[in-house]
Amino acid sequence: MFKVINELPLSEVQEGLIVGVFEHEKIDGFLKELDDVLQGQISELLQDGDIKGKKKVISKIHTLGKIGFKRIYFVGLGKASELTFPIVREAFGRVVKQINRDRLATVTVALDTFITEDGLVLDAAHAFSEALSLASYKFNHYKRKANISAKELESTFVYTGADQDEIMAALTVGYTYGQGTNSARTLVNLPPNKLTAADLADYAVEIAKKYRMEYEILEKEEMEQLGMGALLAVNKGSVQPPKLIVLKYISNEKWENVLALVGKGITYDTGGYSLKSREGMVGMKTDMGGAAAVLGAMEIIGELQPEQNVIAVIPATDNMISGEALKPDDVITSMSGKTIEVFNTDAEGRLALCDAIHYAKQLGASYIVDIATLTGGVIVALGDAVTGAMTNNETFFEEMLEASAEVGELLWRLPYFDHYKEKVRNHSKIADLSNSPGREAHPIMAGAFLGEFVEDTPWIHLDIAGTATSKGEHDLGPAGATGVMVRTLATLAERMSANR
Ligand code: BES
Ligand code: MN
Ligand code: ZN
Repeated sequence: MFKVINELPLSEVQEGLIVGVFEHEKIDGFLKELDDVLQGQISELLQDGDIKGKKKVISKIHTLGKIGFKRIYFVGLGKASELTFPIVREAFGRVVKQINRDRLATVTVALDTFITEDGLVLDAAHAFSEALSLASYKFNHYKRKANISAKELESTFVYTGADQDEIMAALTVGYTYGQGTNSARTLVNLPPNKLTAADLADYAVEIAKKYRMEYEILEKEEMEQLGMGALLAVNKGSVQPPKLIVLKYISNEKWENVLALVGKGITYDTGGYSLKSREGMVGMKTDMGGAAAVLGAMEIIGELQPEQNVIAVIPATDNMISGEALKPDDVITSMSGKTIEVFNTDAEGRLALCDAIHYAKQLGASYIVDIATLTGGVIVALGDAVTGAMTNNETFFEEMLEASAEVGELLWRLPYFDHYKEKVRNHSKIADLSNSPGREAHPIMAGAFLGEFVEDTPWIHLDIAGTATSKGEHDLGPAGATGVMVRTLATLAERMSANR
């Protein structure tokens, strides 16, 4: 779908051209060439403000037969001195949406107009293909009409002075990142009657087969044998059998330095007997957002093959009620042997995850990242654009921060003082741990609970309850699932391999 070209065919009739423009810059380079061909009209339009350099503003002009391109989309990039890649990517996202609305089948991007120095051209290529994939994403599986009218860009020409092979490689990487994120979005957007634990497991097995990863799907009986009492407790009220999904990406046969990605896979969260309110329950199909992020990242890892051993561990079940279901006041025994008093059946994510974390350690995890739509409290604290994080290891967290900055996904650290550890240990008078010591600092309590199972392994906890979905449309996608942290996790694996 991408073609890299080093010469621009200005006379051939084509549908559209995308050009970047900075604010308050005199026109030179490609923009100057274009201006000359169009007898100074670009300068004039810029002067009159019909073409804007303002950040992320798209100005579309029709060329009325003056050149081969029927339309030119000018993409405002703001001040050159303030340019960052997240801005470039979002600006690309906007123009991609516009082009999709205009129903173009092909488009050419003048890539070199999106950078301030030559060294950044590969990043720009990555940003473009990622934005193309992300901004074109739609979830309309169940709209009969939308399915018929869907149309996608057929080919994209990228015009640049840079090396064609290098640009092509960067485009492929960016597109892979976008597609992995979109896979996660679809898993999250799927309704809970269409995506059960078994469906999630099937999807994971597909990934494993496609990329020749090893895999293991633990069934209920095996969980019973292993003593996964916490995960099983969450599943007790359900008619859908639970699955513990494991994918192994083995880059080095020497099984060390294993990065474990542990994702919450609650396919529906009613709250259990601590039942959610009518309004609070709607949307709880997204409670497997952590699992989706892990699977999306595994797809990217499968495509790009970093030199880093990675395992995905996903506890999958829904959280339902029935005569058999878990109750508040129940005491359960986790796989680690630690007992847990259940104060709130709606704090189910940490129950499912604690056995998955313990199992990941048994499988040889040397680093653990858990990711979960874990608490409403993190939304209150950080909002819908920033993921909450906790850690027991500064160096590992530094790596994570850099990965997230590289892809432009925001995260912020919550404290993990001994004070909190004591709360999860001391709240229950009859068991080792409490699954819900109360309202105070509850996002931290959730993380601290998981920390009890991680023990000394370097660990990062990511609470994506706020960031996994978006209420409205945004530059890089529609309302609904965002696929947050897919790109950060894949980048983390990539960075860890590069550090070796
Ligand atoms: N899945 C929810 C958290 C959530 C809330 C995700 C809103 C997305 C949007 C989680 O299982 C939950 O119910 N958490 C409770 C924990 C409480 C009972 C300690 C919460 O946050 O209220
Ligand atoms: Mn819950
Ligand atoms: Zn939940």
